[in-house]
Amino acid sequence: MFKTKYSINNIRKHMAGINENIKIKSFPQKEYINFDNAASTPPLLPVIKEIEDFSKHYSSIHRGIGIKSIISTEIYEETRKKVLQFVNSDTKKNTCIFVKNTTEAINKLSYRLNLSKEDVVLISLMEHHSNDLPWRNKCKRIYIKLLKNNRLDLNDLEYKLNHYKNKIKLVSIAGASNVTGYINEIHKIAELCHKYNTQILVDCAQLIPHRKINMSGTGKNDYLDFIAFSAHKMYAPFGTGVLIGPKDTFNKGVPEYTGGGNIISVTENNQFWTHPPEKEEAGTPNVIGSLALMKSINILEEINMENIKKHETILTKKLISNLKTIQNIKLYISFDNINPNNHLGVISFNIKNIPHNFLASLLSFEGNIGVRNGCFCAHPYVHRLLNLSSTDIRKMQQKMIFGQIKDVPGLVRISFGMYNTEKEIDNFIKFLNLIINNIDEYKIKYKYNQEYNCYFPSNLKKEDLLKHLK
Ligand code: ALA
Repeated sequence: MFKTKYSINNIRKHMAGINENIKIKSFPQKEYINFDNAASTPPLLPVIKEIEDFSKHYSSIHRGIGIKSIISTEIYEETRKKVLQFVNSDTKKNTCIFVKNTTEAINKLSYRLNLSKEDVVLISLMEHHSNDLPWRNKCKRIYIKLLKNNRLDLNDLEYKLNHYKNKIKLVSIAGASNVTGYINEIHKIAELCHKYNTQILVDCAQLIPHRKINMSGTGKNDYLDFIAFSAHKMYAPFGTGVLIGPKDTFNKGVPEYTGGGNIISVTENNQFWTHPPEKEEAGTPNVIGSLALMKSINILEEINMENIKKHETILTKKLISNLKTIQNIKLYISFDNINPNNHLGVISFNIKNIPHNFLASLLSFEGNIGVRNGCFCAHPYVHRLLNLSSTDIRKMQQKMIFGQIKDVPGLVRISFGMYNTEKEIDNFIKFLNLIINNIDEYKIKYKYNQEYNCYFPSNLKKEDLLKHLK
C-alpha cells in the first residue's frame, strides 16, 4: 500500500527549529512554543533541503542558454503551474505573478487597475494594512460595514454594490482576519460581486495555510477573480509571494516596474512590453523562493488541507474552552456558532489589569512562548474591537508620533500552525495561570524596554538574549 511520507501526525519532526531548546541567562532551559504563525511560519526542513539540492543547478532564468539556465527556467515555470493548480485556478484565463509577499501583490494590483479618484474600491475594517493602505490616494476607498460581532455585514455589501454600481472597480477583502480569525464567506461574496458586475480580490494571506482555496468556485458565478498570498506564512519563508488574476488585466497598460525581463524590444525612442506574467516581473526573479513555495505546496497537498483543517480546529476549540476558564479574560471573538468554516486558529485576548505588551513579554521570558501583541498591522480593526472613541484614537496617535508607545492599547494573539500540539496549549494555559497568580512579583522584576516595546527582566541585557545562538 502507498505510504505517505508527510502527515499531520509526523509533520512536527519535519519543521525547522521546533524542538529547539532556548536557554536564556538565569531562566530555566525550555522548549520554545511558537504561537505566532499568523505573522510568519518556520520553514519546513524538506523545503530547506530542496533549496540546498537545487542550488547546484541554479542559474539566471529566461536568459542564458547554459544547461543550468534551462533547468532553472523550467523549474521556475513548473512552479507557476503548480501554484495555479493548488488553488484550482483557470489556467487559460489567469496568470500567476511572483512578487515578494501579499503586500507587494496588492500594491501591484492597486497600480495595475489604473484607478481614478472617482473609482470606488470596497474594502472592510477587518483588513490588515496591506489591504487598506494600497487603495488610499488612488481611488475612493469605502468600507463595508461590520456587524456587532465584528464580522462582515453582507447586507451592507450588497447595498453598497447596488448604490455605487458602475463606479466600483473592485471588492477587496480578507479571506480570514489576522486578528479575530474570522473566515469570510468568500464564494458567497464573489457571487454577489459578479451579480453587480464587479471583480473581487481575496487577500488569502491568512487563509491559504489553513484551508483549501478554490479560485474557480463550485457554482457558475462564485469564482475568485484575484487572489494574493505569501509563502512565508506557508512554511517557505524565502521571499516569495503570489498574485493571481486574469491575464487581460495585465495585458493592457504599462507594468509597475520596468527593466530587464519584461520587454520584447527596446530602441532609444520606444519599447514593446512582453506578456504577463513576465511583463509584471522586471529584473531577475526569485527562483529559489518560488521553488521553496512549490515544495511546501507539495507537502501541504500530501498532508491534505482537510487534515490540517481538522487538526487546527481541535486546537482552536481546546484553546477557546481553556481560555474561557481564565479569570478576568476578554476574548475578542463571538462565540455564536464557531465552526471550522467560519473560524481559523487565530485568537486574540486581554487580561484585565495586565498590559498586552507586559503579558506577551512574560509569556516569552517565563514560558518561552512566542506570541504577537499590539495591533497586528490592523489598527482600525483593533481600535474597533477595543471600542476606542475617535478622541481616544486621536490622543493615542499624538503620543505615538512622539514615540510614546508603551501604553498604546492592543491585544495578545495566539495563532496556530499545522505542527502545534494540544500539549503546547496545556503548557501555555499553565503559564498563563502562573503569570496571573504571580503578577505582583513580576511587576517588580520587569522593566519596560523602549527599543523592543516590551518588558525585560531587570537583570537581562539584550546581548544575553543573543548568546544562545553562538
Ligand atoms: N499580518 C501579519 C500579522 O498578522 C503581519 O502578524
